[in-house]
Amino acid sequence: MSHESTYKPGTAIERWLDKRLPIIRLGYDSFVDFPTPKNLNYWWTFGGILAVCLVIQILTGVILAMHYTPNSALAFNSVEHIMRDVNYGWLMRYVHANGASMFFLAVYIHMFRGLFYGSYKEPREMLWILGVVIFLLMMATAFMGYVLPWGQMSYWGATVITNILGAIPVLGESIRTLLWGGPSVDNPTLNRFFSLHYLLPFAIAGVVVLHVWALHIPGNNNPAGIPVKDVKKDTVPFHPYYTVKDGFAIAAFLVLFSLFVFYGPNTLGHPDNYIEANPLSTPAHIVPEWYFLPFYAILRAITFNIGPITSKLGGVIAMFGAIAVLFVLPWLDTSKVRSMRYRPTAQLWFYLFVIDCLALGYLGSQPAEGKFVMMAQIATAYYFLFFLVILPLLGLFEKPKPQPRSIAESVLKPHQSDAGIAVQPAE
Ligand code: HEM
Repeated sequence: MSHESTYKPGTAIERWLDKRLPIIRLGYDSFVDFPTPKNLNYWWTFGGILAVCLVIQILTGVILAMHYTPNSALAFNSVEHIMRDVNYGWLMRYVHANGASMFFLAVYIHMFRGLFYGSYKEPREMLWILGVVIFLLMMATAFMGYVLPWGQMSYWGATVITNILGAIPVLGESIRTLLWGGPSVDNPTLNRFFSLHYLLPFAIAGVVVLHVWALHIPGNNNPAGIPVKDVKKDTVPFHPYYTVKDGFAIAAFLVLFSLFVFYGPNTLGHPDNYIEANPLSTPAHIVPEWYFLPFYAILRAITFNIGPITSKLGGVIAMFGAIAVLFVLPWLDTSKVRSMRYRPTAQLWFYLFVIDCLALGYLGSQPAEGKFVMMAQIATAYYFLFFLVILPLLGLFEKPKPQPRSIAESVLKPHQSDAGIAVQPAE
């Protein structure tokens, strides 16, 4: 939330700098004195956790790139060289590979939090849209990163996904050839994926800066979903309250992260990626990393042609549509009440949506045959119904519970407001 700066430069150097580039003031106003709703729960710690994930990925990635060779004849062995010969190379690689999974775990929680508490609604539409841009960039980065070890799944995953892009009318073939750099996935593909995989995280970092800027204009949403009315009563300074809370959550998250790195570093990976890429031998099942599975299920759920749209193109449209719909979410949800805490009916549909996404994840891991196809079609239909029909209609017909009058009240008398005693609706 924009507020008067309270920063007082303490030393002569700080005063000098403050007149020329008030960067310490910016940091102070944004992360020390920033008035933050006093009722934020642990779901609000995932933004900080995500920032840590990004830093870890960039640091370990830069070190890995010092020892990795982006050439199709050498890439697989260079990764084994990192694992066996490079000092702490195994640690860098396992942290980076599992770090991608942890990053997606955190981003999914962060997004579902936003969905539940209506953080995408006015005045935070831009903040949400920048988040979706980050999500897209993360997916592109992870997809290209997975190709680099040049194992069987790297090669065949890249082949499947780049091939489906070929189904896009007019431009598809050109996009595919441009990505391949030749007639199929090969050394030029690996080269350009390496280059882009190194570049995109810095683009993500840039968009994260915009994301946090867009957050600091309206200020945080909060579990009650109502705006700050009285800065003194409803907020606390970001430091020390949320620096400590975020710090604790980050530490707990790093414990989970370490469990994977040290006790099950290959749990989330696919064993076939320890076989070097072989264009002449297709694996029995080509599956992406777990975080892509829901989208993979949607891609494969369209098994029928719709008029001139072939099933292949239909799958591509559905898969990209599943992300595109997030961009317009702020305008699809018609409810005036932000937080689903006060929307019992919306809550039920939301929980069904979470189950639906998990189901899509499971279905993406199964072969696209028999009953799994039909189940994926039902789950895909619900995914789109939730955004395009349920959320727009719910806002018009549901009867929300009364909201507390203020953030302070929701903290001090949570039971009263939950039971609907504070019947005054929030402005
Ligand atoms: C690298 C990835 C990301 C980073 C580092 C990041 C960082 C942050 C931080 C630090 C906050 C404030 C703390 C918090 O509310 O947790 C935040 C808030 C928010 N983020 Fe992200 N974010 C990322 C990705 C995303 C994505 C993918 C989306 C949605 C598609 C998103 C949507 C939001 C929204 C709506 C808020 C406002 C929450 C509120 O105040 O209620 N973010 N983000």
